[in-house]
Amino acid sequence: MRLLIAVCVMWIGLATSNADSSQRLQKMEQIMKDLTKQLVTQQFYVEERIRSDGDSGIKQVRRISTGTDTYNSETTSAVHSHPNYKDVIGFGEVNVVLNGVEFRTRHNDYSLVMPSHHANAYHVTEKIPYPQVPPSVLAKSTVPEQIAEMKEYFRAFRLQNYTIRNYGNFFKPVLCYLEGNWEWNTNHLHEPFHSETHHLDAESYDALVDKVRLNSYTGMSDQHQNVAYLPKKIMDIDENGNPRYAQWNYRILCNPLNHVDLKVFKPIDDIAFRMSRKYNMSTYTRTDEARFTVAAEPHRATFNQREGYGMFEDKAYARGVLDNLMHQVPGANNYRGGQQDTEFNETALYADLGHERRENTARYHREYRLHHGMQFNQRGFSDNNLWVAQTHQNRVASITLRSCKTVGTLKTNCTSTTEKFTYAIPLEIIYLNPLHSWNPYKLEMKNETMVAENGRTGDAHNAHLAYNGISPSQFYQTPSEFFGNTAGQEVGVLDPSGSIHRVMASGIQTILPNIPGVGVVRQRWPIYPLHREGDSVGKEADALLEMMNHMSSMSTLYQAPTVQGKHDTVKPDLQFRLNPSQTDPPGPHDHEFFVSASDWEDLINKNVMVRVQTSPSEGSQEESHSHYLELALDRHTHKPVINKCDEQNHHCWDGHREFEEVTYPLF
Ligand SMILES: *[C@@H]1O[C@H](CO)[C@@H](O)[C@H](O)[C@H]1NC(C)=O
Ligand SMILES: *[C@@H]1O[C@H](CO)[C@@H](O)[C@H](O)[C@H]1NC(C)=O
Ligand SMILES: *[C@@H]1O[C@H](CO)[C@@H](O)[C@H](O)[C@H]1NC(C)=O
Ligand SMILES: *[C@@H]1O[C@H](CO)[C@@H](O)[C@H](O)[C@H]1NC(C)=O
Ligand SMILES: *[C@@H]1O[C@H](CO)[C@@H](O)[C@H](O)[C@H]1NC(C)=O
Repeated sequence: MRLLIAVCVMWIGLATSNADSSQRLQKMEQIMKDLTKQLVTQQFYVEERIRSDGDSGIKQVRRISTGTDTYNSETTSAVHSHPNYKDVIGFGEVNVVLNGVEFRTRHNDYSLVMPSHHANAYHVTEKIPYPQVPPSVLAKSTVPEQIAEMKEYFRAFRLQNYTIRNYGNFFKPVLCYLEGNWEWNTNHLHEPFHSETHHLDAESYDALVDKVRLNSYTGMSDQHQNVAYLPKKIMDIDENGNPRYAQWNYRILCNPLNHVDLKVFKPIDDIAFRMSRKYNMSTYTRTDEARFTVAAEPHRATFNQREGYGMFEDKAYARGVLDNLMHQVPGANNYRGGQQDTEFNETALYADLGHERRENTARYHREYRLHHGMQFNQRGFSDNNLWVAQTHQNRVASITLRSCKTVGTLKTNCTSTTEKFTYAIPLEIIYLNPLHSWNPYKLEMKNETMVAENGRTGDAHNAHLAYNGISPSQFYQTPSEFFGNTAGQEVGVLDPSGSIHRVMASGIQTILPNIPGVGVVRQRWPIYPLHREGDSVGKEADALLEMMNHMSSMSTLYQAPTVQGKHDTVKPDLQFRLNPSQTDPPGPHDHEFFVSASDWEDLINKNVMVRVQTSPSEGSQEESHSHYLELALDRHTHKPVINKCDEQNHHCWDGHREFEEVTYPLF
């Protein structure tokens, strides 16, 4: 009865006025359009909040333990090893922020693949080759002789000494990075990158969201660690008012590098982790949790042979080693996908001194220039790690800016600009070594089933229980004698003739077991940034930690005397001002710059060149700019002078030639 009345009312309503209902429909359409726009704005608001909370970087990892103090639970490391796998780089689940987009990965455990060198289609990859076994090792006729020779290569790498062996071709660094971008949504779930051990466990993105929502609601954890939280948003509204959805996706790939010395890595203290284990720095740097910072300039770093990593003074820089390494990594265009260099119809230039060339913005970079000799632009607003690459790929969701000139009430000369970008952060640098290719007992590669047939467990002392060959997940081919104390880590494997050999896992691992006569060799050097480091409180905490760790040398920075005596104390940076330029444009202005006391001493005493960036121009009506200076001693007067300013010798394009020290007398 009620239904009947409702239908009648509707019929009457429709019949009363067709015009009226079409008006209402139009109104509804307008409201829908406005609401869709509001959703876009809302999503943007959330991203902007996250952008200002911190840098692109890792935010959280899965918690395994808890404790009586906050730092007794996990901090930020997801690095672990599966050396028994031929091609698995252990990396757990993490919450990541990339350019304000926060997401949670599956258990990553990635493989060694790089973007394709041949195809430029979206997400086509190829395997990275492993280094070969040094010919001088293969030339030895017995296994013990091969072991001794192989050790020399490891010793050379460990001590970074090319005199011992020319190890360069056999310890090849690769830069592994996490890349993320919005894709036009198809709902078809697209496995972002290969892992031997994990995959996204859902039929579609919608199903994945349902799963992760249930997990979050119930607090349940996916037993196989195969779910991820990948956000979806309305990316754009087309001319007809239809929403276009975009799905966030990410992947982990690696990029082969030519040459990176170990001296460019310096450990970053993780005091929370160290407190929870009561580790000193030396022990900390031999754990999976250790993270490293990369030097600005290799020639200012020295190698600490005892610890096996670099030492250098922390300093601000505009373009460092990391920029050069990341610039080798292509975005979604792949290596051959061509270069992009225009944005908003302006040519982007490579941001470095003495390189007057177009920037290939299809490679990852975080700064660029637009005008000759003028301002360097940093990508983003405050994000230290906003590495971006431009792309042609149609799968990458784009943003279109439509702008028109309004003449009276008419919109004319409309133009539109469409931009497509992907984002990335570096995760780690891994030194591939010859153990992957070295199989001195000629053990046969088979499948898992055959290797473990008849209940074989890899027993090292019983031929009936030893593995029958090796497989991608039982990748044991390195002779036990190569490593020292191998108890509990070695397995027994039969060679094709049925003889048993004691062997160790040969896959990628953070720290190799101790090699007698060589020491502990680190294979993976995590360099990933943390989200919290971009927060101003995070910066204060890091500064405090540094002061606490170096109480005696930093004693001058304390407001009241520290308990420790004063010796070997830190000296403040020196402040300089470029003599004002009167050139117009850009109009009267000057710049300041800072040089650390130790850099200044090296310049004065040893003529070690100092490279600094000046502050932006002050007092100019024109566009703000800064300069890149190279300071060196004058050949005749032996006084510090401007050797180079931007691209020019001895003076800047706008006339600055000299500089003077700025001092603040007490009274
Ligand atoms: C490198 O090794 C050679 C040969 O063992 C040795 O003579 C030299 O002192 C080493 N150099 C360094 C810097 O340790
Ligand atoms: C750090 O701790 C380890 C283990 O307790 C110890 O062997 C080592 O000597 C310590 N290193 C330093 C520099 O104190
Ligand atoms: C882009 O630059 C070209 C060449 O300088 C010019 O002809 C064109 O009008 C510009 N387009 C826009 C949208 O500014
Ligand atoms: C629109 O573009 C045309 C051709 O480029 C130009 O002649 C005209 O002045 C432009 N109109 C406005 C309002 O800018
Ligand atoms: C392993 O290899 C054997 C022999 O080639 C084959 O019969 C068997 O099906 C393989 N097992 C798997 C799981 O691939």
